[in-house]
Amino acid sequence: MFDQRTLTHLRATEYGYLDENHHVYLDYAGAGLPARFQLAMQAERITSGCYGNPHSENPTSTATEELLVRTRRAVLRFFNADPEQYAVIFTPNATGAMRLVGEAYPFDPRSPLVLTTDNHNSVNGLREYAKAQGTGTVYIPLDTPGLRVSDQAVHTALAQAARNGRAGTERAARGLFAYPAQSNFSGVWHPLEWIDTAHSLGYDVLLDAAAYVTTNRLDLAVLQPDFVAVSWYKVFGYPTGVGCLIARRPALARLRRPWFAGGTIQMASAQGQWHRMTDDESAFEDGTLNFLSIPDVEVGLDWIRGIGIDTVHDHVTALTGRLLTGLAELRHGSGAPMVRLYGPADTERRGGTVAMNFLDPQGRIVDERVVARDAAARTISLRTGCFCNPGAGETVFGLGHSVLRRAAHDRLDTVDDYLADLELPSGGAVRVSLGLASHLDDVETFLEFAAETYRDRIPEAATLPRRLRC
Ligand SMILES: Cc1ncc(COP(=O)(O)O)c(C=O)c1O
Repeated sequence: MFDQRTLTHLRATEYGYLDENHHVYLDYAGAGLPARFQLAMQAERITSGCYGNPHSENPTSTATEELLVRTRRAVLRFFNADPEQYAVIFTPNATGAMRLVGEAYPFDPRSPLVLTTDNHNSVNGLREYAKAQGTGTVYIPLDTPGLRVSDQAVHTALAQAARNGRAGTERAARGLFAYPAQSNFSGVWHPLEWIDTAHSLGYDVLLDAAAYVTTNRLDLAVLQPDFVAVSWYKVFGYPTGVGCLIARRPALARLRRPWFAGGTIQMASAQGQWHRMTDDESAFEDGTLNFLSIPDVEVGLDWIRGIGIDTVHDHVTALTGRLLTGLAELRHGSGAPMVRLYGPADTERRGGTVAMNFLDPQGRIVDERVVARDAAARTISLRTGCFCNPGAGETVFGLGHSVLRRAAHDRLDTVDDYLADLELPSGGAVRVSLGLASHLDDVETFLEFAAETYRDRIPEAATLPRRLRC
């Protein structure tokens, strides 16, 4: 098992490109970073073997198929999942996994979709599939300032939505409950016990594990969500363009795909206009898989196993603790706080993602575009905006239902119009996130940058273009 000293060594060697190029990388919630070893392994594999399209039947396609099978097994091992119970479907990313569920879930007017307000847009988007089938979406609000949701609120919302679905009928169809195990906005861990709560009320559960599994063990022998979505580049940086839907086989069998494609069918007729889907995970894998990259997932998983996910977890937790303490200590000369933190102020039940805004000496929010520009000038990579999580953003900026509904009807051409309409003090927050290759120096550099740049200063009003991509 690796220790902190070894992680420091890895930073200098495997992730040496960070310090060689003076990067202070604080966007692990955006993407993890690849170790040089992973790239070397890929080059070695592709330049010493020959891998063909897995849909063919020939020696090179067999070689590819063997690697795909190995990788599916490696993914199941990572999650301690029983292959009899769970299937691994390769997708382009977590978003692709979510879409597979959304487009094929048997929504009907009696089967509600329930979401936490804290969700990535790739989960929020499920509501359009639900709407198309006449199903409403229920959002469970977040508590402030911790940005958590109480167990009671989850139970009440699920029970109420199920009762409404049941009204006038014998029995509600199953509903779908989707939430992130770790918030990509605040870093909060939402309880995995909600999976059992939802099951006991007749729901299927889609767990967005994209952020959580970067620093945590998810044991599918213990907790059994029906669908789990992940993006592998978030966990070990490389390859990009490969994610997974890990699905419980009975739940997968309930999905109804809206189309078929190459790779998903046993047989099809053009003139007869019929088709028969394959009866395994390939029914969900459209077209030719990213077969030269997928085997690198096993390399990445081995890399993480070699270091130890618990080591990564402890390392990130320790750095997050230092970051949170340092932010709380940042004060203007008057003693006024320089930082407004969104989410938990300590390391209890949270990951290494920290959202905030800087405050000027008069307590006004420093425009996040100014922070993005100033940080970039110091080669600090952080994230600004709403992080594709409008629900958490709306909560921290105190935006209620009525004002947001009104905005939908006003004539708003640009993001700036929208923000002006809401009379927001800022277009978004600043997010710093830590990961496997982070070092204490990254945290200290960020804290020094903040102190030097914003202490007792009133930064100029931003005239920078706003480029929000949610
Ligand atoms: C919690 C969470 N869910 C989903 C996603 C979407 O991931 P991707 O863009 O890789 O599909 C992200 C990405 O930031 C995320 O953090």
